[in-house]
Amino acid sequence: MSKTLVICDNEFLSTLYVMNLEVYLATKAELVTTIEAGIAIHKAKKNFDLIISLDTINKRDAFKEINEYRGSYGVKTPFIRVGGDEDTDIDGKTFAVSSRYNIQSILKKSASILGVTAKQMAEMQMGAYYPISMAPVEGLTKAPCNLYLSVDSQYKMLARRDDTIDESIKNAKATGVDTIFVRSTDRLVMVNNVSLKLIERITEALKNSSGMSIDKKVEVLNDGFEFAAANLFSTEEIRQEMAEIATASAKVMSDVVKDNPQLKGLLATMLSNKSGYIFTHSMISSYVANHIIKNVTWGGEGQSDKINFVLFFHDIYLSPIYLKHPQLKYEKALLDNPALSEKEKDIIMNHAKLAAELVVTYKRCPMGADVLIKHHHGMKKGSGFANKYPEDLSPLSKVLLIAEAFVEIFVATTDKKEKVEMKLIIPKLIEEFVSPSYIKIIQTLVNLPL
Ligand SMILES: [Fe+2]
Ligand SMILES: [Fe+2]
Repeated sequence: MSKTLVICDNEFLSTLYVMNLEVYLATKAELVTTIEAGIAIHKAKKNFDLIISLDTINKRDAFKEINEYRGSYGVKTPFIRVGGDEDTDIDGKTFAVSSRYNIQSILKKSASILGVTAKQMAEMQMGAYYPISMAPVEGLTKAPCNLYLSVDSQYKMLARRDDTIDESIKNAKATGVDTIFVRSTDRLVMVNNVSLKLIERITEALKNSSGMSIDKKVEVLNDGFEFAAANLFSTEEIRQEMAEIATASAKVMSDVVKDNPQLKGLLATMLSNKSGYIFTHSMISSYVANHIIKNVTWGGEGQSDKINFVLFFHDIYLSPIYLKHPQLKYEKALLDNPALSEKEKDIIMNHAKLAAELVVTYKRCPMGADVLIKHHHGMKKGSGFANKYPEDLSPLSKVLLIAEAFVEIFVATTDKKEKVEMKLIIPKLIEEFVSPSYIKIIQTLVNLPL
């Protein structure tokens, strides 16, 4: 069995990495949370086949420090840097995957390094029992399937399915156990349950975020957004739980937006958290929408939460496309991009409609959220992008449209390294939306704190 060293200080991500590597690539993953521990364990054992590390660990440049170690000790172990600007092969032994939540890419790269093909994985002769590290199991309170320990080459039952396992896991860990076993046929049950548990933990973290720093709040929000996006096509159970993350996120987004007196500050936090485009533009849209709602006569608290819930889901169907093409940005421009397939373009055309159809399945969907999502590109049926915006949309839909249009102009301006000035942005918005009911809303942006 191959061995992979995972260096990661994000508790949600480390669970995801370890579990996926073990279940899909049959590699034994060892997890550490600091750069020092990573280097020490590598020095002591030296028999790892692969090192995977986040690019930033405890705010330090992990990539640089680990690479210095590899350079000065002539370490040949292949290395995958996760996070950063691009997906690239740096040299024959060093690779980069940009999105920390792009488990598929991380697995694909790891598989090629470890010499595992999909075919091999499918055909791999597995024993009756399959090993899984403690790290992903530790977060579970109930056994999703029977769990076993290996004692003198025999498998001894640790817990039956549905047993409460807090204590037994703790006890096993105390005696030095670092691996438990499940029946090989139960592997995917385990993956699904660990994912569900992660959603629960992220939701908990969001709900308990009131004492956290803005930085930490943004980190957990980012976890929620990216996790939901990455798991959109997994099981129905997981898809249902996303409504919980979204509801909890909506509140925290309001918090973060209120805590930031200026857009500049919010942007800096997003940048230092290396947030993806969908999360970043949703957060800026939330900031702008919140400002508008505060400045119109009919605005109220509930509307901010509703808009945030909507923002969580509105572009979720675009996530797989952004993961595959991390350099892409503006939604409308995606349609003309020759790098995208017809199937991808079809999703781009219909992403508003698809997301609206997703949220109506949620029991706790805020009233009218589906309609807001469907209309977020100005098309009544949620298909395509409007050139001329309809007059008879709800005021909140208009707020959302304007907030998103602002973000596009804002991002384009900062990308060109030009100064962002409301007196330049407002005329552009007026030109785009034309009619008085929209212009009235646009005028509230005059005093938007940049
Ligand atoms: Fe969109
Ligand atoms: Fe959007």
